[in-house]
Amino acid sequence: MSDFKTILDAAIQQLGGNETVQKLLGVGASALSNYRQRGQLPAAKQAILEAELAQQGWYLDLEGLQFTPLNSGQQRRVLLLITGGIAAYKALELARRLMDKGYQIRGVMTKSAMEFITPLSLSALTGEKVFTELFSLTDEAEMGHIRLARDADIVLVAPATANFLAKMAHGLADDLASTICLATDCPVMIAPAMNPNMWAHPATQANLATLKQRGVALIAPEDGDTACGEIGTGRLAEPAVIIAAIDRLLAPQQAPPLLSEAPVKGLIGRHILVTSGPTYEPIDPVRYIANHSSGKQGHALAEACAKAGAKVTLVSGPVHIPDPEGPDTEGVKTIHVTTAQEMYDACITALPADCAICAAAVADWQVVNHGTQKMKKTKTGIPKLELAENPDILASLSQHAARPDLVIGFAAETENLHLNAQAKRQRKKCDWIIANAVGGSGEDAVFGQDNNRVTLIDAHGHEDWQQTSKAKIAAKLVARIERWFNED
Ligand code: C5P
Repeated sequence: MSDFKTILDAAIQQLGGNETVQKLLGVGASALSNYRQRGQLPAAKQAILEAELAQQGWYLDLEGLQFTPLNSGQQRRVLLLITGGIAAYKALELARRLMDKGYQIRGVMTKSAMEFITPLSLSALTGEKVFTELFSLTDEAEMGHIRLARDADIVLVAPATANFLAKMAHGLADDLASTICLATDCPVMIAPAMNPNMWAHPATQANLATLKQRGVALIAPEDGDTACGEIGTGRLAEPAVIIAAIDRLLAPQQAPPLLSEAPVKGLIGRHILVTSGPTYEPIDPVRYIANHSSGKQGHALAEACAKAGAKVTLVSGPVHIPDPEGPDTEGVKTIHVTTAQEMYDACITALPADCAICAAAVADWQVVNHGTQKMKKTKTGIPKLELAENPDILASLSQHAARPDLVIGFAAETENLHLNAQAKRQRKKCDWIIANAVGGSGEDAVFGQDNNRVTLIDAHGHEDWQQTSKAKIAAKLVARIERWFNED
């Protein structure tokens, strides 16, 4: 029987010992021993370890607790559909890395993909015929498109262009790749890549929402420079991220008994959006409307989600605590904002997400007539502030075309906690509300404190949780989220 430590140690030995592995991962001895103790590696480090071992002919799966020579029965069949974007060339690297991990690759290319790479290069790499035509007599004789669609463990569309996503969402079948997507009965995963404006366009987001609703697994594109020279979301996810998601999707349903003893990283491949802290609404360049939120709960949630393997976008108002840091939180991208409007814009841009947790204390109003110069005391009297309502981020996310599958809000209540929070959940159309009684002092204080006492409210009722640290509440909530995604 092997456990996490035994497997990790065997892998380290295979790679030449602790020092070699520390150098490889760019960490010190204490980090390595921390990983061992915790029974978990940051996703990026795990990917490096797996890739290095794959080069040496070993298959390491730290979630499934497997460490075996490659090609020893882990072989699963990936039908790789390459569509026509500049990222098509990256599909070759992806295919190679998948094969390193023991996957069998059969390639299909669209007409426009062939503008970027040739079927010959893919077929030389995979050692398999690459299919391109829907109506090819030899292909139909050797392998009909229906068999092609079914003779796989997973259909992976990478890169998936905006056009191809639209075709999938609307059920078009006018070429081999789109026909396969309709005909297949195995899991379908998409890894989109496109210009940031095309990605953000409501049409693309609506198509994605449709596909996600139908159970298509999404590997969200990453932020950065895109081939078209624009900066934003649209780069094809890294091969290691796509491969980890495939590993997870194809992992045996029956968890090995050891898995229950090992920490579960049930949010790998998920994107979670977290808001945190207060917002500041300017009155003039030196004054603003704010509240007492410290951001401690929201930041703790972002950290806990990252520890569970999620990719996290943390949209934070002005706080006096550091961004989540350390090897466990490499998956957190923190976006700093000041006003509610900026927080709203950052959240909408961060979509799609699998889950949104709105822990920020967003100001209800903004000052419409805020001054560009410092307001002065005058003899004409006290200035009148004209207020306008801020966008409600939680309600907007709950009703967005690309609504995250699970939307969670917070409610700070001073009276009738359960009733008010349940009404808020229904009004804002979110799935869960984490309610806490504020306005207390001493033990019952919430703002700025390390402890919190909350009630989880969902469509079925409420559940009171004991007073504990904000970090423990975050861990408990994340365990609930993992369960919701993986069991419910
Ligand atoms: O309406 P109220 O402010 O009490 O609702 C609290 C919940 O709504 C919190 O989850 C908070 O993050 C969210 N909220 C929001 N945008 C607003 C106001 C509140 O996301 N403008």
